[in-house]
Amino acid sequence: MRLVRLIANLGYGSRKQVAAMFREGRITDPDGEVLYADDKVEHAQVRVDGEPLDPPAGLVLALHKPVGFTCSTRDPGRIVYDLLPPRFRLRSPVLSTVGRLDRDTSGLLLMTDDGGLLHRIISPRAQLAKVYEAELAEPLRGDEAALFASGSLMLESEKTPLAPAGLEVLAPRRARLSLTEGRYHQVRRMFAAVGNHVEALHRVRVGGLSVEGLAAGEWRALGPADLERLFGEAA
Ligand code: URA
Repeated sequence: MRLVRLIANLGYGSRKQVAAMFREGRITDPDGEVLYADDKVEHAQVRVDGEPLDPPAGLVLALHKPVGFTCSTRDPGRIVYDLLPPRFRLRSPVLSTVGRLDRDTSGLLLMTDDGGLLHRIISPRAQLAKVYEAELAEPLRGDEAALFASGSLMLESEKTPLAPAGLEVLAPRRARLSLTEGRYHQVRRMFAAVGNHVEALHRVRVGGLSVEGLAAGEWRALGPADLERLFGEAA
């Protein structure tokens, strides 16, 4: 791909703006030698104002989503893209969230510009566990684990029962729930179905990837070893 298009697709500016950046000598190699728009150079060898280029298309990142941010590009309030470099919103192909977490849910959120990979992660066939920790308003009754594991729990306005889900009781009002689906507000609706209410919800893991090591609001780009880990641990 021509350098101007490559850099514009990463959100650094329109092609016209990127062409101007070349003319201003802002695009260089690692030694500071000015590059020209028709040079043939590897992605890793390009610097913009001395900084390495953002990761190329095929980007996958893990974000520790804080409470209060929406998984949307349009919401007038805080959105998860506000936690990333502003350029990332302008990338082509578009960087999307892999599924969604509610505004009031925190924890591990994956984002990618690779549509095939996105579908592979969210497909029920992948059987990737999404693991949540929930703080509850009421003490657990004791029959929730059996009901959630039964594969027969029907949520209001749904046509098919939920797939079996694993529940681990951590404290009287605290539980870890492992799902292989991602229905709308699923965790909150599951606890509502057993007469409880989720006061706080945090996703700790997706497949073999944990949110550990990322503070709230932090993100990191994932590499091949992370993706192997992600898919390496089915539910
Ligand atoms: N289930 C919910 O209810 N909310 C989330 O954000 C994720 C799963």
